[in-house]
Amino acid sequence: RNAEENILQRIELHWTDITSLEVDAIVNAANASLSGGAGVDGAIHWAAGSGLAEECRHLGGCPTGEARLTRGYRLPARYVIHTVGPVYGLDLKPEELLASCYRRSLQLAAEHNIRSIAFPAISCGVYRFPVKKACAIALRTIHDFLQQCDVIEKVILAVYSAAHYEVYKEQLDRLRQG
Ligand code: APR
Repeated sequence: RNAEENILQRIELHWTDITSLEVDAIVNAANASLSGGAGVDGAIHWAAGSGLAEECRHLGGCPTGEARLTRGYRLPARYVIHTVGPVYGLDLKPEELLASCYRRSLQLAAEHNIRSIAFPAISCGVYRFPVKKACAIALRTIHDFLQQCDVIEKVILAVYSAAHYEVYKEQLDRLRQG
């Protein structure tokens, strides 16, 4: 029970622009070319400056469900972890791919001794993943990872839209109530 409380205390929900967060790493909901885009990807590239796109160019893309790390440039965050979520209704096994985005991002973070990390609602915008389902997958995957990893002390869920925030809050509250 104490162990369970410890895990839940390490997960925080913030209604905020992810680019403003002073954490070791923020996660970007990118596309397979890592060449920038709209939504949170656009916001992160705009805030980081052109150095980010330059480093991304050298990575040669990223498959769906995988993650890649770059520096954060002008962001308050030291690193950006770029992950590529599934396009809902197009990619096969979107649930597994979305869980993989969270897991691979957390693995990469732990390998780089990252202690605090913030996630946007991966795939919940342009890629149309239903937010309730996506939130449940995010919470379960983050929870399971923290259970077996002490490196990461804080995971922030950085939610930008009011509707998404309500969904996240309800599911996190339910988890906390056991
Ligand atoms: N901070 C936090 N969350 C944000 C921000 C921000 N500044 N801007 C947008 N969001 C939220 C959206 O409200 C949505 O819930 O990020 C979530 C993910 O939406 P998208 O950015 O559209 O990402 P996704 O659905 O994964 O689609 C990825 O969009 O722009 C392209 O290059 C990107 O092609 C890729 C696709």
